[in-house]
Amino acid sequence: MIQLVRGFKDILPDEIQTWKHIEKRAVAILEAFGFREIRLPLLEKTELFKRSIGEYTDIVEKEMYTFPGSREELLTLRPEATASVVRAYIQQHMYAVDPVQKLFTIGPMFRKERPQKGRYRQFYQINAEVFGIASPLIDAQLIVMLWALFQQLEVAGLTVHINSLGCPKCRPAFKQALSDMLQANAGDLCADCQRRMRTNPLRVLDCKVPSCRKVIVNAPSMVDFLCEDCARHFNTVTSSLEKQKVPYILNHRLVRGLDYYCRTAFEIQTTELGAQNAVAGGGRYDGLVEILGGPSQPAIGFAIGLDRLADLLKQSKPQKESVPDVFIACIGETAQQQAFTWSCTLSLSGIKTEIDFTGKSLKALMKRADRLSARFVLIAGDQELKDGSVVVRNMETKEQMPVPIEEMLDHIQQILATAS
Ligand code: HAM
Repeated sequence: MIQLVRGFKDILPDEIQTWKHIEKRAVAILEAFGFREIRLPLLEKTELFKRSIGEYTDIVEKEMYTFPGSREELLTLRPEATASVVRAYIQQHMYAVDPVQKLFTIGPMFRKERPQKGRYRQFYQINAEVFGIASPLIDAQLIVMLWALFQQLEVAGLTVHINSLGCPKCRPAFKQALSDMLQANAGDLCADCQRRMRTNPLRVLDCKVPSCRKVIVNAPSMVDFLCEDCARHFNTVTSSLEKQKVPYILNHRLVRGLDYYCRTAFEIQTTELGAQNAVAGGGRYDGLVEILGGPSQPAIGFAIGLDRLADLLKQSKPQKESVPDVFIACIGETAQQQAFTWSCTLSLSGIKTEIDFTGKSLKALMKRADRLSARFVLIAGDQELKDGSVVVRNMETKEQMPVPIEEMLDHIQQILATAS
């Protein structure tokens, strides 16, 4: 048997209720905060991700699904959505209509990471991106919105981690201090970090190798290097979160795995999923629109990891699958022909209807209706049809009564309305 690809997974109907529940709540809150949906291709030019995420990041160095396209061009299955949203903002001249755009998109991302619990090679994100707003109040508003969504979904054990990554004015001094400190401890760093120390020292702060973590404990903090503007920006973000009663942890080790961030960076972390503890992450990326060839516009956004959030909710608040309103048990060929028409009529009237065409015995059909937790069963045999009626059985009360065929739809609609 051909199995699915390692690190990929099927999302089965049982889980879909949880996914739909999250998506519904997320879309409602995003729209209430003024976001509009955008749908983008899964495939982009490799160059887009190299230029935005950064050439010396784990994602670009080793995790992208890249292959040759037409002409000499390399194509990549998107490892994240921000770069694509920025591309569309520029390419579709959205900034010219109104530089302020609030966009969201939901869909799969692809990263060739080592698969483990909560870490997949195809995973889904809900992304929200805001363009054209420099005020720190929007940074706070995004976090308030995210936090409210998680509260609504009743996810326990979450904390907001927040940091400032400074700006091109103040970050170089921090980078230098970090780099000096790492050079002095180079012997204790893993092989990857010995390289990162030169190419992209901030990435060392992400390393999970125990010997590197020991070195990182003594690393300088970006907050001590923030310029006046960045410090003021960060203070407004945190004080606005306090005003909205969003609890947060100042985490000066939080650098995020993508290079485009500046100033505010944040993650929502959980204690429930082991090593893969980030359920959502984001931050400001003021320079990116310009880097990708657009006008200079500030931007900020985040992405929620749907798979991880669904895993959390599945554990704490499993969603029930909706059950059939009506199950049609028809016995005999003529009854089946008739029941086929009824099932179409009922389904087309918006009534969730199941029908069994296998020609099994009434006992077997009732057993199946029970397994499906159908609310009502329509029983039709050749005799009932001769009488011009069907039997309607309430599966909860076990009451059953004959109903004339021509009144069947009205009757079902009525009992469903009174039952719910
Ligand atoms: P990210 O931190 O790489 O940020 O991903 C965001 C979230 O996606 C993570 O917190 C996690 O929940 C989920 N995620 C990431 N990788 C995996 C994986 N291999 N398996 C399962 N879930 C995963 C970004 O992608 C940025 N584009 C977010 C952003 C939007 N920043 C600004 N705007």
